[in-house]
Amino acid sequence: MPVRKSVWVRPMFDSIAPRYDLLNRLISFGMDRSWRRHAATAALAARPGLMLDIGTGTGDLAFEFAGRDKGETTIIGLDFSAPMLRIGRKRAREMSGSDRIHFVAGDALELPLLGESVDVVVSAFVLRNLDSLPVAFSAMAKAIRLGGRLVLLEMTPIRQPVFRFLFRLYFRRWVPVLGRLISRHPDAYTWLPESVDNFLGPDEVSAQLEANGFVDVQVTRLAFGTVAMHVATRR
Ligand SMILES: C[S@@+](CC[C@H](N)C(=O)[O-])C[C@H]1O[C@@H](n2cnc3c(N)ncnc32)[C@H](O)[C@@H]1O
Repeated sequence: MPVRKSVWVRPMFDSIAPRYDLLNRLISFGMDRSWRRHAATAALAARPGLMLDIGTGTGDLAFEFAGRDKGETTIIGLDFSAPMLRIGRKRAREMSGSDRIHFVAGDALELPLLGESVDVVVSAFVLRNLDSLPVAFSAMAKAIRLGGRLVLLEMTPIRQPVFRFLFRLYFRRWVPVLGRLISRHPDAYTWLPESVDNFLGPDEVSAQLEANGFVDVQVTRLAFGTVAMHVATRR
C-alpha cells in the first residue's frame, strides 16, 4: 500500500526547521527572497483584509508581506510542522509590526477555516509536498471569498535540455551534499531535487487550478524558469 507523503514529509520538515532558512539562502544564492517579493506584490495588489499563508514554514512570505502592507492585513501563517511554527512565532516576537501574523497549526488539505472567509491565499514551495493537488486547490477555493485571489510559488521542472543538464548537476549533486552537511538530515535535500523533477509543469498546475475553482490563471516564470508564480481568481 502506498504511504501518504505527509507521513514522512512532516517529520522531515520538523527536523530541518532550525537550519531551513539558512539553507534556503545558500541554495538559492539569496534569490529566494526576491521570489517571495514577487508573490507579496501580487498579494498586496488585492489589498486583503485577511490573508492565509499555507505551509508558511518559518513565515518568510508572511513577514515579507507584513513588511510592505500598510498594517491593514491580518495574516494567518498555517503549517503542520510545530518546529517551523515555533521559529515563526519567535521571529514575530522579535520583529516590530509582526503582531498581525498569527501562526496556526493545520493541514493544507483540511483547512481549519470558515468557508469564503479569506481574501487572499498565498503558498510558497509547498505544492510538491502535498498528497493531492486537487484536494489542496479545492480546500483553498473553499477558504477564499468569491473574487478573492490565490498566489502560488513553486519550483518547476526544467525542459530545456542544456539548462536542465547544468541545473541538475548543481541541484542533484551539490545541493544534497550541502543540505546533509548543514541540516544533518540524511535525505531532505535529496527529496528537494527529486520532488521538483517529478512535479507538474506550470501549464499542468494552471489546468488543475481551473478544474478546482479558479479562473484568470496567470503564470510568471522566475529565476530562468526554475520557479513559477501562479496568480488566480476564485470563481
Ligand atoms: C519548503 S517549505 C516552504 C516554507 C515557506 N512557505 C517558505 O517559503 O519558506 C514547505 C512547508 O510546507 C509545510 N507543509 C507541507 N505539507 C503540508 C501540509 N499538508 N499542511 C500544512 N503544511 C504543510 C511544511 O511543514 C513546510 O514548512
